[in-house]
Amino acid sequence: MRVFQVDTAWSDENLRIGERPEPTAGPGEVRLKMTASALNYRDLLVPRRGYGSRMKALPLIMLCDGVGRIDQVGEGVDSYRVGDRVCPLFFSSWPAGEPSAEHLAHSLGCEIDGTMAEYMVVPASKVAAVPAHLDDVEAATLPTAAVTAWRALVTEGRVKAGDTVLVQGTGGVSLFALQFAKMLGATVICTSSSDEKLTRVRAMGADETINYRTTPEWGRVARDMAGGSGVDHVVEVGGQGTLPQSLRAVRPGGTISMIGVLAGSVMDAPLGMIVTRHVRLQGITVGSGEDFRAMARAIAHHGMRPVVDRVFEFEQLREAMQYLASGRHFGKVCIRH
Ligand SMILES: NC(=O)c1ccc[n+]([C@@H]2O[C@H](COP(=O)([O-])OP(=O)(O)OC[C@H]3O[C@@H](n4cnc5c(N)ncnc54)[C@H](OP(=O)(O)O)[C@@H]3O)[C@@H](O)[C@H]2O)c1
Repeated sequence: MRVFQVDTAWSDENLRIGERPEPTAGPGEVRLKMTASALNYRDLLVPRRGYGSRMKALPLIMLCDGVGRIDQVGEGVDSYRVGDRVCPLFFSSWPAGEPSAEHLAHSLGCEIDGTMAEYMVVPASKVAAVPAHLDDVEAATLPTAAVTAWRALVTEGRVKAGDTVLVQGTGGVSLFALQFAKMLGATVICTSSSDEKLTRVRAMGADETINYRTTPEWGRVARDMAGGSGVDHVVEVGGQGTLPQSLRAVRPGGTISMIGVLAGSVMDAPLGMIVTRHVRLQGITVGSGEDFRAMARAIAHHGMRPVVDRVFEFEQLREAMQYLASGRHFGKVCIRH
């Protein structure tokens, strides 16, 4: 079968199509005929061995997001049937509950092979059904960015109607956070480097918007927008470059979900504000199978659709990665197999 993998050495140049033997489902497993995948910012770091020595030895099949249709069901599997559409879970060993070292040890497209293959064989306990109203490309976007936003706002954040949530930028995680926050009845403030993208988030329901390029002191502006005391929850994807503003934006006792480090990964913030304002800094690393299933139920109930910016063909993974790296996208960049 065809796969798209980091081949013989860690570098962008060694990212290419290769061949692997076609797998078959053993006892307790299902085989998926993969139909779509989606990109995440982390995938840009993978070919350069950005996650270090814990990564699988080469060759490594790319991407952590994908969806497939079950075409083989192994002995002893009664939870799925041939024809069911499922996503392999981002963390193959985190079924539910609190994170542990074991739960976080195996993620797709990093410590284990990813979704850019014609077929994947996965234990039936490590896949989850997708909402029926989504097409394959939309469904492929769910395991990473959507589960991360869900874990941040729902499982950990307990956002409720009437809260104010600040969402940074218009990438994959952030637009899911906007959609979930609106679903929960929150008021949402969105930031972006682009006025055109801010117009688009308004159309999606954002209540207030701030251009973080033209308003570098956006933390104070966001605090005022939230009635002066600050926002209840910040979805932090910038890290070093944005945390000082997030600390100005958040209310005393509020939560900052630490998700990404797009603007630097070193702690460089007024730590006294965390103490004196009683701020909860909550690290988030995707989520569990239980998070995926709860999120999928909510998406189905609300008929929510992920925002897909652009779809590339299987052979165009490198072009898709260049497009993601350019930052021109709004929402998810996807691959049709
Ligand atoms: N912890 C986890 O479990 C987890 C899961 C998924 C992703 N992440 C991390 O979260 C981050 C976002 O991932 P993604 O896949 O959503 O990325 P993405 O789709 O590539 O989104 C990137 C967007 O972030 C915005 N951005 C960039 N620099 C910014 C800054 N300084 N301030 C505010 N916004 C900024 C930009 O939005 P505009 O163009 O609108 O300015 C950009 O388009 C990455 O660091 C990624 O590694 C973490």
